[in-house]
Amino acid sequence: MVKTAILYLAAAIIGAMLLRKLQLRLRLSAAKHRSLTGHSRMARRFAALVPFYEYDEHGFFRADAAPDAIAAQRRAGFMALAALYQQRFAKTALQTAEVYDAISDLQFTSRYRVPFQFSRFVREHFKAGNFLDSSSGVTVTDLDGNRLYDLTGSYGVNVFGYDFYKECIARGSERVRELGPVLGAYHPVAAYNVKRLLQVSGLEEVSFHMSGTEAVMQAVRLARYHTARKYLVRFCGAYHGWWGDVQPGVGNPLAARETYTLEDMSEAALRVLRTRRDIACVLVNPLQALHPNIGAPGDSTLLDSARNAHFDRAGYTAWLQKLRAVCTQRKIVLVFDEVFVGFRLAPGGAQEYFGVRADMVTYGKTVAGGLPVGVLCGRREFMMRFRGERPADVCFARGTFNAHPYVMGSMYEFLQRLETEPVRALYRDLDVRWNGRAAALNERLRAAGLPVQVANLSSIWTIVYTRPSRYNWMFQYYLRAAGLALSWVGTGRLIFSLNYTDEDFAEVERRIVSAAQAMHGDGWWWSAPLLTNKSIKRRVLKEMIQARCSSSSIGSMSSPRIK
Ligand SMILES: Cc1ncc(COP(=O)(O)O)c(C=O)c1O
Repeated sequence: MVKTAILYLAAAIIGAMLLRKLQLRLRLSAAKHRSLTGHSRMARRFAALVPFYEYDEHGFFRADAAPDAIAAQRRAGFMALAALYQQRFAKTALQTAEVYDAISDLQFTSRYRVPFQFSRFVREHFKAGNFLDSSSGVTVTDLDGNRLYDLTGSYGVNVFGYDFYKECIARGSERVRELGPVLGAYHPVAAYNVKRLLQVSGLEEVSFHMSGTEAVMQAVRLARYHTARKYLVRFCGAYHGWWGDVQPGVGNPLAARETYTLEDMSEAALRVLRTRRDIACVLVNPLQALHPNIGAPGDSTLLDSARNAHFDRAGYTAWLQKLRAVCTQRKIVLVFDEVFVGFRLAPGGAQEYFGVRADMVTYGKTVAGGLPVGVLCGRREFMMRFRGERPADVCFARGTFNAHPYVMGSMYEFLQRLETEPVRALYRDLDVRWNGRAAALNERLRAAGLPVQVANLSSIWTIVYTRPSRYNWMFQYYLRAAGLALSWVGTGRLIFSLNYTDEDFAEVERRIVSAAQAMHGDGWWWSAPLLTNKSIKRRVLKEMIQARCSSSSIGSMSSPRIK
């Protein structure tokens, strides 16, 4: 009798435990964003199935089933643009060609500027090159002497203008010259940097690293060490560097096993944080406020016009406040990854801008005055790398070049200048200025009947397209021809430095509008009632299925080929 009761009790306990586990699992599934980006494993599996195929010259201009007259118009426009590139960027392209086969990064970025079906034909005709000679004000100059307005922002490093960084590097180098590249010990400038970083972050300790990726790695390692929990939470679409655990989807050959990717700005995600006991930290990249749950918008994935972005400051602030509350309640380390937005939104970074405090904050990109760096600031209880009571239980982190004197020197100059009046003035009415510029440009584009708009988070912009089209990625080439330099992600990310004056911006605005007019005039934005984002996706999917099923010619597509 007693034995049976014990068995029943044991079964009931095991049953309850299994039920609880199932409930947690279901809760986790419910907190994933419904897109492929939200399902890392599925995304990797899907990516492995995508076959290579490309359009031949005939199909290239008719990928949306446009009539022959439109295709001819596009062809003429394309060839005229190609001729202009050939003449205008000749030297720069030649230099690029000389090293192309030897630089893996160059091959990758040039291949993935546009959707792969169009890539080879575009590469053959638009050789703008990847070399620059100089920078000045808000412009860069290539090897052919072309001055281009810089909209790349050097991946976000350039907040205050290239001349500012040249000064930081030159003066900073002067400061540390006597010590030179001695590593391990600190140059005295590091002491000032630490003091200022603590002021900026409102936190208690600092560690220096060589890149943003490493600063994030260290934040996660420390969070795991101090909480004795395994999992990191990142939000769907957010970039935190290229380290495996924070890049669980496409691009990483291994699945990240100790990462939960949850839906951004979602109650279901908060429920997971409230109920699981295995979460060490939550990583927030505030840049996602511009496009929650969507990855960095590059033109290589611009299949149609579904790109979407909108910044809701109040909504995102409320979200961060909720995250803060749940992390405090559950003793989860809240990490703001400000490698991108730090110092761009406010002198005190995203913490100041949104009025929410994190337990750890990473900085990078701009903070070393133009030299490579990663910084982690955190509360003391999370930054300690050892335990007094268990001396062998340490959390290791080193790096040969951490706190390199030249980096520290340049950072010193950056942090000092941050306090000066001319730099403070750049932050005054920052959003009013940049939102106003975006609104004015949008109005002009609308008035001209062009299917292009911009969305912005302060000085970080993305171009969105308002009419279904398969050719939006062509816009980057018209922009370049109009003298605007974009990074390899094309129109997905325009980054302005804060030293853009109204006159500079007016010129950029004029060029964007005229580039859009030229592209419009060449027929790329032809539209028809049956051409919708959905029909475009369906058509591409059909092409992929056909390409997988057959290696022979499909309609106007050329045979799949392996390059
Ligand atoms: C938010 C964020 N975190 C981390 C990184 C990685 O920084 P790094 O490229 O210096 O390794 C980046 C880079 O773009 C970033 O935007």
